[in-house]
Amino acid sequence: MTKNELNETLSSLRREYEEYVSKNLKLDMSRGKPGATQLNLSMSILNEVNADSEMKASDGTDCRNYGLLDGIPEFKALYSELLGVDPQNIIVFGNSSLNVMFDYISQCMTHGAGSTPWLLQGKIKFACPVPGYDRHFSILEYFGIEMINIPMLEDGPDMDLMEEVVKDSSVKGFFCVPKYSNPEGKTFSDDVVRRIAALKPAANDFRILWDNAYSEHDLYDNSDELLNVFEECKKCGSEDMIIEIASTSKISFPGAGVAVLAASSKNIETIKKRMFVQTIGYDKLNQLRHTRYLKNKAGVKVHMQELAAVLRPKFKIVLDTLEEQLGGTGLAEWLKPNGGYFISLDVLDGCAKRAVELCKQAGVILTPAGATFPYGKDPRDRNIRIAPTFPPVEELKIAAALLCLCVKIAGVEKLLSE
Ligand SMILES: Cc1ncc(COP(=O)(O)O)c(C=O)c1O
Repeated sequence: MTKNELNETLSSLRREYEEYVSKNLKLDMSRGKPGATQLNLSMSILNEVNADSEMKASDGTDCRNYGLLDGIPEFKALYSELLGVDPQNIIVFGNSSLNVMFDYISQCMTHGAGSTPWLLQGKIKFACPVPGYDRHFSILEYFGIEMINIPMLEDGPDMDLMEEVVKDSSVKGFFCVPKYSNPEGKTFSDDVVRRIAALKPAANDFRILWDNAYSEHDLYDNSDELLNVFEECKKCGSEDMIIEIASTSKISFPGAGVAVLAASSKNIETIKKRMFVQTIGYDKLNQLRHTRYLKNKAGVKVHMQELAAVLRPKFKIVLDTLEEQLGGTGLAEWLKPNGGYFISLDVLDGCAKRAVELCKQAGVILTPAGATFPYGKDPRDRNIRIAPTFPPVEELKIAAALLCLCVKIAGVEKLLSE
C-alpha cells in the first residue's frame, strides 16, 4: 500500500474500532480456563463419592482417613497408563501441578537436587523455551533463577542452542511443556526428545521439569504423539534428569483436580522423604472419585473427546477469523494446534503491546503482551497468546474480530511510522 492508502485504511479501521468501543464490551480471553459448558461435562465425577459410597481404595485403605502418602493405587495405575511409567515411579499430590513444580524448585534451592543446595551454588540459571508458559517464568523469577531464552523452532526448542547452554554448570535446569506447548500448541518431535534425553549437562544436578499438562488434550483425531522421555532417558542413563508433572486440571476441574509427578526411582525416593515431613497425605477422596469416573486410558480418551467437541468450535472461530481478517496481509502469523489450550499469534515486530492495549481499551482482556517470555520481555514485542477456551462462542466471535482489528491498527500505525 502507498502511504495514502495506509492512511485511508487506518482511518476506516479506527472508525470500526470506535464502534466496538461504544459497545462497552467486557470479555476475557486472558487465561486458559475451561468454560462452563466444558465443566458441566465433568459433573458426574462428583457423584462417584457420596455418603453412601464404598470409601476404600483398591488396597483396602479407607480414603476418609490418613494413609497412602503417595496416592491410592488405582490413581497411580491410571497415570501409569497415561504417562507410560511404572506406578512405583509416580507420586500423587493435591490439586495443583504448578504447586508441585514450585515446591520442587523450592526444595532444590534449599536441599539440592541430589547434591549441594542450589542456594549455596552461587548464580543459578534455567533454560526456558520461548515463547513459553508465564507461570513457569514466575516461579523461576521468584527464586532469583536467571532465565535463558531458548527459541522454539518448528519441532520444539532449539536443541543446538540447548546443547551449548548446558555446558555451563550454573545452568541447573530446563522448564518445558513438551506436548501442545503453552502457548504455541507444538509437540516436541522424536528427534528433540531424543536429543533432550542425550543431553550431557555440565551440572550433575541438572533437572528438566517436563510439564506434561496437555498430554491428553487432543482436539482432533490426528493427535500429536510425544515420545516417552523416560524410555529415551533409560537408553542414555539420564532418567534422573527428568521430573514429569501433570494434572487433571484441564481434564476435570481446574483447582479441584489431582496432580501427579513421575520420576526415576532415585528421585522418587528423595521426594518421598521430603513429603513425609511436609504432609500426612493428600485428598484421597478426590483421587478416588476421579479414578472411579475416568477408570483408565480409554475412559480418559472418551471423556477428552467430549471436551474436545466443546473446544473445537472455539478454536475454529478464532482460526477462521484470523484467516479471514489477517490472512495474506503480512501483518501476522499463527499456527493451527492439534491440541492444548492456546493459539499463539505473532504480529509485526513492536506491535503486540499496542494491539493488546487497544483490545483492553475496547473491553477485551488478553494475556499481557510479553507474558510468554521470561521477565515479561518479548524482545521483538510480537507474541500474543490467545486463550479461546473460556468465553462462550458468541463472545469469542466478537473478541476474535476485535483482536484482528487491533492487530491491523497496530500494524498499519507501525508501517506509517517507518
Ligand atoms: C503448561 C501448564 N502447566 C500447568 C498448569 C497449571 O496446572 P495446575 O492446575 O495443575 O496447577 C497450566 C495451566 O494453565 C499450564 O498451562
